[in-house]
Amino acid sequence: MPLPIKLNKSFFKIRFPGIVPDPRLITKQNIDEFDFEKYINTFKIDQTFKITQKNRQPLTDKSIIDLTINKKKISVLEVGSSCGVNSLDLIKNLSNRLENYFITDLFLNIPFITENRITYFYNPTTKRCIMATSDRFVFYDSLESRFVFLNKICNNILKNSPKLDENFRKLDFLHPIITKMKEGDSRIKTLEYNIFDKWFLEKVDVIKSANILNKSYFDDKQLNQALKNLSKSLNPEGILVITRNRSSNDQEIASFFKLDKNKNLSLIKEINGGIDFKFTLKS
Ligand SMILES: C[S@@+](CC[C@H](N)C(=O)[O-])C[C@H]1O[C@@H](n2cnc3c(N)ncnc32)[C@H](O)[C@@H]1O
Repeated sequence: MPLPIKLNKSFFKIRFPGIVPDPRLITKQNIDEFDFEKYINTFKIDQTFKITQKNRQPLTDKSIIDLTINKKKISVLEVGSSCGVNSLDLIKNLSNRLENYFITDLFLNIPFITENRITYFYNPTTKRCIMATSDRFVFYDSLESRFVFLNKICNNILKNSPKLDENFRKLDFLHPIITKMKEGDSRIKTLEYNIFDKWFLEKVDVIKSANILNKSYFDDKQLNQALKNLSKSLNPEGILVITRNRSSNDQEIASFFKLDKNKNLSLIKEINGGIDFKFTLKS
């Protein structure tokens, strides 16, 4: 069972479940890419962790390439991309066919404040403190356990966080490789996008949603709302891919849908049984 308070690896230098890399270290200047990937995975905003890694859905990415092989130009919208590092392989494999790749996430940066040796991280929209880190512990919001005293300590720390005024710094969630890649390739675009809002740029040929649209994060109504928005962001014959890695063994599962002439999404392919929720949708 996940505990709301975890031990900080900067202090507890042993290998043990429940010890997490110190999230504060991601704010270091010139952090290298391997360390960045370690620290990004400790962040949790509301219901979702930012957990990601390179090349996490190779089967899904290969199928996207195969299903679009006849198209000369392809634009991709990836939602819930975290720091963007998992987009690298698809970008590389689309090669010259790539027109635009929108790497998007709910938040690409968040505010933080350090006071009395505790660093507090905030949801930029609600201004609520969602995580805090002391030298020894990491405190998570919305991770309730059956240990009431732990929940109480944790809530107390987060509730007594400093008010988010002008004296905050910003933590950039974009992976250093993506930041660098963007500078040399105008087809790579990074922006904040909430799947519960309408997509506000041009329609795309492929939408990839990895480890975000699933029942452990969102209820049926929310999933349907997000799917409605995404289906409206597709070009005719566009493909929506919903993929996820099983928590038990990281196995990749995916379902591919195509927008047909009547603007319905039809299932065209599944990997390892496909996603575990059904939806019926007219866009
Ligand atoms: C578990 S990570 C998945 C990262 C990556 N797609 C992967 O598979 O490795 C889930 C991501 O979804 C983002 N997210 C959560 N709610 C969202 C929303 N409403 N709109 C867009 N992104 C959201 C989180 O910020 C987080 O970065």
